[in-house]
Amino acid sequence: MIKKLNLVIISLLILSSCNIDKNTLSKEDEFVSELLEKMTLSEKIGQLNQHTSRWEMTGPAPKNDKSQDQLELIKNGDVGSMLNVTGADATRKAQQLAVENSRLGIPMIFGYDVIHGYQTMFPIPLAEASSWDPEIVKLSAQVAAKEASAAGLQWTFAPMMDVGRDARWGRVMEGCGEDPYLASVLSVARVKGFQGDNLSKNNTIAACAKHFAGYGFSESGRDYNTVDISTYTLHNIVLPPFKAVTEAGVSTFMNSFNIINGTPATASIYLQRSLLKGLWNFEGFVLSDWASIEEMTTHGAAEDLKEAALLAINAGSDMDMESHAYSKYLKELVEEEKVDEKLIDDAVKRILKIKYKLGLFEDPYQYSNIEREKKEIYSKENRDIARKVARHSMVLLKNEKQLLPLSKQIKSIAVIGPLAANKDIPLGSWRAKAIKNSAVSLLEGIQSAVSAKTKINYSKGCNLTIGDRSFLQELSFEENDKSGFPDAIKAAQNSEVVIMALGEDCWQSGEGRSQTDIRLKGQQLDLFNAIKKVNKNIIVVLMNGRPLAIPELSEKAPAILETWFGGSEAGNAIADVLFGDYNPSGKLTISFPRSVGQCPIYYNHMNTGRPTSTNNVFWSHYTDSPNTPLYPFGYGLSYTSFTYGQATINSDEIKKNESIQVKLSLANTGNFKGEEVVQLYIQDPKATYARPVKELKKFKKIKLEPGESKEVSFILEAKDLGYYSPEGEFLIESGVYHIYIGENSQEVQQVNFTLID
Ligand code: NOJ
Repeated sequence: MIKKLNLVIISLLILSSCNIDKNTLSKEDEFVSELLEKMTLSEKIGQLNQHTSRWEMTGPAPKNDKSQDQLELIKNGDVGSMLNVTGADATRKAQQLAVENSRLGIPMIFGYDVIHGYQTMFPIPLAEASSWDPEIVKLSAQVAAKEASAAGLQWTFAPMMDVGRDARWGRVMEGCGEDPYLASVLSVARVKGFQGDNLSKNNTIAACAKHFAGYGFSESGRDYNTVDISTYTLHNIVLPPFKAVTEAGVSTFMNSFNIINGTPATASIYLQRSLLKGLWNFEGFVLSDWASIEEMTTHGAAEDLKEAALLAINAGSDMDMESHAYSKYLKELVEEEKVDEKLIDDAVKRILKIKYKLGLFEDPYQYSNIEREKKEIYSKENRDIARKVARHSMVLLKNEKQLLPLSKQIKSIAVIGPLAANKDIPLGSWRAKAIKNSAVSLLEGIQSAVSAKTKINYSKGCNLTIGDRSFLQELSFEENDKSGFPDAIKAAQNSEVVIMALGEDCWQSGEGRSQTDIRLKGQQLDLFNAIKKVNKNIIVVLMNGRPLAIPELSEKAPAILETWFGGSEAGNAIADVLFGDYNPSGKLTISFPRSVGQCPIYYNHMNTGRPTSTNNVFWSHYTDSPNTPLYPFGYGLSYTSFTYGQATINSDEIKKNESIQVKLSLANTGNFKGEEVVQLYIQDPKATYARPVKELKKFKKIKLEPGESKEVSFILEAKDLGYYSPEGEFLIESGVYHIYIGENSQEVQQVNFTLID
């Protein structure tokens, strides 16, 4: 009964979106409609299948794999898309199979996880987000698109815009951090970078908003785990970035592995049909995540693969990545009248339309250009841009007594640590076609930056993992080898300053790489303490893909620079910052906990009924740790100092159709030119539904010469004050609002105003 009702609702949802006036049909709509009329049901279903190449896989191997069959299926028009086929030559050959053999010659679309670069590696997305600079983020995506498209790809499975509040979750490295507004702004920038202003250009690619939705909230940070969040959190925290990129014209969506409200996202009619394709009017197509259709049987939401196919197509998952459910069962389901063919038509149209927009019908090979591939991939120009982006992505966490920047004329430097000379880890995980060991190491970066007279004393000190990464996928950190300590201590004794590269292996974060312990592993902290005994001038260079719990380091190290995984040019970019060629301007977009026990920890939390000490134990706190993070959201230092003037507003009261202007002056009162991210938060202290203690609403990155000051102003409109009810209704409520403005989410000044009806 329920299923029949669903079918009626779904058909109505589709019919309402198909009710288009013939005269307003776009060129692509006309083309696609005509093509659709020529297609058999099997050919239509063919468009809904995405196969991985068998030579590179980013998920579990398909069952009963027969590689040879794949070629026949492609020739027959049964494969609409491939993932993990890369390179101008390979994509051309695969495309030829489809175009030259299938009855209608419909080209395939080739997708790949181009997450932070194709071969020229950019900093991991979490790092890029720390730039708080949409232009920087866009630039990185542009270069990635240029390289990927030259290698025959037309589609990236990025950006990931899952809000991440839990450092245990390995995929925080792939997102923008814990704030939905920042994730919206930066994800839109990424989409624009990938897609440009015209998808048919051969240097732009389709983007994919993922994972729809809730994946970032997997319980206890364990990847693929259950998600159990309120609809209030869904509407206010999870969905806003997805809505923002839809409005910005993202071409595709990927759904997510998790269940939400008991339904796998892949089968969510609410998310995919009512919201995305209904209310938000999304015109592109939705791709399942890898085998997420099949996995509905394991979730216990589908009896078998056939029912999984039925649930997924009904819910609006248009393309099946590696479940082989649609190819096996959709025809049968249509013949049994369980699936309305109109649903298939709708999915096919959406896919063909994106192929049309990409120019694939005009020239299916325009992306597979060997000459371009040779010229445009990993070029000097691209690496220079990667260096620039990496510089902007670093966050200065501590700098006591202005230890940094260092002079290039310094007589001696010890460069110590398991990550100091490593040429692979800075490439990060999700590294697409990065060449192994191709990153500029920190040591190399320092060597090229300093004067010929500077003596560099390098010593590794300890390993990062047992056997130092020989196991790669199964890293083990029970490392207790201290045999490298004496050499490292000697290097430190003989040097004016010590630069210590500590952190994580890049395979500790990323998909499937969650952790219960986010402290420095192995002998790293012991090494630090041993060095500190002989040389106090230690600058710690952190490389990691998630926030780390480093209270001891934070207390004892005079300087700490968070460099994340900086990509191909990591070492050069870090040296640019260490020696003052670039003044760090990044700010954290995810809170650093004091210990893993605080996770999930995020600045935009609710107030609770007992937020402050009551001189007894009955308030919301830990008995063994402060509530506050080690480093809060929005935090980051500069070599110069910025002085904030008094914030003023142009009115104490505004109506709902008016806006309010907030102004303050910002002065560079230090000795270096620099950039400061001025952050504006609001709080609605009394609302129908309890609101967070702070919410980021605006930010600006301001460049200032020493001694210079500028007026910084923000306009807040009534809609910026709104929020969603648990039912998804957008509310703008009158009453008092607090504006907090400052250098991070904790150090702020406050002004209040009232919104009146
Ligand atoms: C699974 C991941 O969740 C998704 O993000 C990725 O794009 C696909 N695998 C394809 O590799």
